Amino acid sequence: MKVAILISSRGSNMQALVNATQKEGFPAEVVTVLSNNPEAAGLQFAKDKGIETKVINHRDFDEREDFDDAITEYLTDKKVDLICLAGFMRLLSAKFVNRWRDRILNIHPSLLPAFKGLHVHERAIESGARFTGCTVHYVRPEMDDGPIIVQAAVPILQDDTPDDLAARILVQEHKIYPLALKLIAEKRVKVHGSVCKISEPDEDGTSITNPQTR
Ligand code: GRF
Repeated sequence: MKVAILISSRGSNMQALVNATQKEGFPAEVVTVLSNNPEAAGLQFAKDKGIETKVINHRDFDEREDFDDAITEYLTDKKVDLICLAGFMRLLSAKFVNRWRDRILNIHPSLLPAFKGLHVHERAIESGARFTGCTVHYVRPEMDDGPIIVQAAVPILQDDTPDDLAARILVQEHKIYPLALKLIAEKRVKVHGSVCKISEPDEDGTSITNPQTR
């Protein structure tokens, strides 16, 4: 399975995906890392790992759809099977999302459907919730919407600042994104309407219900 990762800046989730896929036997390969931002720090990491990088700068396009079409053209040329959004800070048009339906993943730092959008860590703390977490999901045209593939729960501690909480959630993000990719590459994820069902592995019997224990 050929994977493209789309980033806009730091790219720590991209790094986790690249590191996982470069381990022997992983059933997917990252063929390109694409950024809308030429200054994205993550681009250098990808280059150092021998992965092709590409910048398609949204500022070069007057219309969102033209920017999205340029991405589609590039990814089609690279014969990409699956797109992983990893801190990609551009909203994608419905045309793009529908073109790649069930072939785009996103990671979001909350337990969706709670806390969609921005400033999620502040909002989670202010809500008084005891737990938040992170979610890998298929992308639909609505922001932070789509069938959930894997989640990890993270407790909200009494004295947490948004940065404290973000740092603890990020540790889990780096576990569940490679896990979700592996499940998909192993063809164990099936979308039934708004719900994903995950089948057990063929041979080793490993449970996928609690990613934090893996
Ligand atoms: C992560 O928290 C991710 O969940 C969110 O944006 C952040 C990107 O961080 N979508 P990084 O660029 O992967 O380090």
